[in-house]
Amino acid sequence: MVISGKELAASLKRDMAAQVATFEEKYGRVPHLTVVLVGDNPASVSYVTGKSKASAEVGIKNTTIRKDASISEEELLQLIDNLNNDNSVDGILIQLPLPAHIDENKVIAAINPAKDVDGFHPANVAGLWLKQPCVLPCTPKGIIKLLKKAGVEIAGKNAVVIGRSNIVGLPVSKLLLNENATVTIAHSRTHNLAEVARSADILVVAIGKPRFVTADMVKEGAAVIDVGVNRDPESGRLCGDTDFAAIEPKASVITPVPGGVGPMTICCLMENTIECFLAQRGKIR
Ligand code: GUN
Repeated sequence: MVISGKELAASLKRDMAAQVATFEEKYGRVPHLTVVLVGDNPASVSYVTGKSKASAEVGIKNTTIRKDASISEEELLQLIDNLNNDNSVDGILIQLPLPAHIDENKVIAAINPAKDVDGFHPANVAGLWLKQPCVLPCTPKGIIKLLKKAGVEIAGKNAVVIGRSNIVGLPVSKLLLNENATVTIAHSRTHNLAEVARSADILVVAIGKPRFVTADMVKEGAAVIDVGVNRDPESGRLCGDTDFAAIEPKASVITPVPGGVGPMTICCLMENTIECFLAQRGKIR
């Protein structure tokens, strides 16, 4: 079964739109997400456009601030400070990657954690690992929603996560652990990776290499979550980290690329923006 993130995201966005439609009357305004894009990296431009489109669908106010790639770190930090202090802004997202002359860690740490809709701020990362109230990162949150929607049981299962990035691999591992899976974090230097991967009831792949996971690495009946966003070196088309055609007949469920995890990431960004808006009003957390 192919799990459509696109369909689930559309349905969740409809529910959020109905919720947001009540906010003007209840709170006097709708949530406001501000996205900052530095430079003109085509992938970043496309991601930012997707975030703006989803905001419109949900009824969230979206402001996209575009800055030239030559902006200084100091100017960017000042902009973030202004947004932190602006009571009309509920969510702040700095699109990554940033130009090399800007320290990303410094920028992420400058965002008010209560407005950090990406869940990248060290205070939110700590909250996840310590099981304290926090903003959860969008892609890992979306993956858990997809698994639950597909009826995949997580508790007691062996989950193998290939990839250990701060954005996906590590946080999704912790969320799976919170759901009582037994989690192995593997990576490109794991010995006998194929064997480790074959032990997975749930296999999450976030390694950023086209067709990195082949059919022999997947156990019959496994649930496969493909987080990759790559260009196929032959066709030039968007593709994931798994050999989808060969694995699909073997897997109990698998996410396609595009149309799997990607739409769920944006959907969870909308959810995080609403959660930050409500938390400011003492309604959650
Ligand atoms: N660049 C690629 N993915 C992301 C993301 O989830 N958030 C931000 N801010 N930048 C990204």
